[in-house]
Amino acid sequence: MPALKILVIPGSLRTGSLNARLAAAASLEFAQAGAEVTRISLGDFSLPIYDGDLQTKSGVPKNAVNLKRMMSAHHGVLIVTPEYNSSVPPLVKNTIDWVTRVQDPHETRGQVFRDRAFAIAAASENRLGGTRSLAALRLILSACHAMVIPNQLALSFASEAYDDMDRLKHPPDAEALRAMVKQLIEFSQRLM
Ligand SMILES: Cc1cc2nc3c(=O)[nH]c(=O)nc-3n(C[C@H](O)[C@H](O)[C@H](O)COP(=O)(O)O)c2cc1C
Repeated sequence: MPALKILVIPGSLRTGSLNARLAAAASLEFAQAGAEVTRISLGDFSLPIYDGDLQTKSGVPKNAVNLKRMMSAHHGVLIVTPEYNSSVPPLVKNTIDWVTRVQDPHETRGQVFRDRAFAIAAASENRLGGTRSLAALRLILSACHAMVIPNQLALSFASEAYDDMDRLKHPPDAEALRAMVKQLIEFSQRLM
């Protein structure tokens, strides 16, 4: 059986991002569980705000095509999103919107979402830990017919959540991360 490949996408570009740190901690867990992990920055796939006229004039930007192909090359995808005003940030929504517009030969549009398992996580400084952003992201991905695993992680008080090695220091957080990682691996293996 080929190695299970997991793509980890942090939904923030901010220096010191709490979500990028959570993405790093999750990547470590995936690697320890035996998966091959790729962690990207959406800064390497920068995209204009979606505009139908732009798509008509110039087509889907190369970065959206590249990101879609990067997703296609993995069996499972974890998106770690901040919460902005009770929802997902524009960076996350805009990226998903462009990827849904990619049409590769011999594929139906949006197939990349239907063919693999997705997990979602969020980190926030408040008590809810980005729960509302996760609800929004689950809805968006479900509308794309993605298989979003039931386990998710909403990391509360995230600036206090890490030890010196950037691992989750509170056992319930570490346990929730481990459960999510294990479940994404299981669901991804089923779809291999
Ligand atoms: C425009 C804006 C709206 C925000 N709204 C929320 C919110 O609704 N809920 C929340 O928990 N945090 C909210 N925050 C705080 C972010 O969760 C916090 O800035 C977080 O650190 C951003 O993620 P990052 O560290 O990965 O960049 C908001 C921040 C910004 C800039």
